[in-house]
Amino acid sequence: MTRRRRIYEGKAKVLFEGPEPGTLVQYFKDDTSAFNNSKQGVITGKGVLNNRISEYLMSRLSEIGVPTHFVRRLNMREQLIREVEIIPIELVVRNVAAGDFAKRFGLAEGTALPRSIVEYYYKSDELGDPLVTEEHITAFGWAAPQDLDDMVALALRVNDYLSGLFLGIGLKLVDFTLEFGRLWENEDMRIVIADEISPDNCRLWDIKTNEKLDKDRFREDLGKVEEAYQEVARRLGILPEGGPGDVKPPKAVQ
Ligand SMILES: Nc1ncnc2c1ncn2[C@@H]1O[C@H](COP(=O)(O)OP(=O)(O)OP(=O)(O)O)[C@@H](O)[C@H]1O
Ligand SMILES: [Mg+2]
Repeated sequence: MTRRRRIYEGKAKVLFEGPEPGTLVQYFKDDTSAFNNSKQGVITGKGVLNNRISEYLMSRLSEIGVPTHFVRRLNMREQLIREVEIIPIELVVRNVAAGDFAKRFGLAEGTALPRSIVEYYYKSDELGDPLVTEEHITAFGWAAPQDLDDMVALALRVNDYLSGLFLGIGLKLVDFTLEFGRLWENEDMRIVIADEISPDNCRLWDIKTNEKLDKDRFREDLGKVEEAYQEVARRLGILPEGGPGDVKPPKAVQ
């Protein structure tokens, strides 16, 4: 394996310098965190599955003209991406009440919302990613009004497309988080989807049973966490043969 300069190590991924200027290699770890890093763990094989799932979903999105940072998958745990200037706002699109949102409004988990609701969170580990409004975002200069318009329009297209895609494999897209970045090409700037789209940042429930098949299994100690990620990959038709593959336990010596 070639040696690469490590640029950033986050909770779930590592970013390395890419082979060409303007590119990065995104390495997917099995490490998992929740509740602003207060809960930590490892989901064996998650990195392999999220690498594949994010590759698949971002590829489908780019086919319908939604711009993303994804270039190509390199191996089991790494993908080549375009380096972007990350906008420090996470967009959450919600179709059904769950998690923190259900608590905040006193709604039972699973209540269908009257329409899709978009929320903004300021990306700051120290502050615990607070919920913010358009006023905060533009006043503090985190994003321009035009950037926000583009982000919301993209997020709603992603929601429509992915809701249908998941429905087709018996999954309900309850909510999801997106990160965006600015991609510069000469003097022109485009907003593209960055980071990842996977069961780490999507809530996915089985249509018939409402069984959770996402990171909530880890957050809520529901068990069968690895199996849930595998099930999503299996239904998408992209489960690597023989499971995640690079994580086979060592053979027992007789
Ligand atoms: N195309 C890209 N160019 C530059 N940075 C990116 C790109 N895609 C994702 N990132 C950033 O890479 C990091 C991915 O690592 P990881 O998801 O582990 O971070 P994290 O610990 O969850 O922290 P964060 O709260 O920033 O997401 C994130 O900070 C994300 O914003
Ligand atoms: Mg992250």
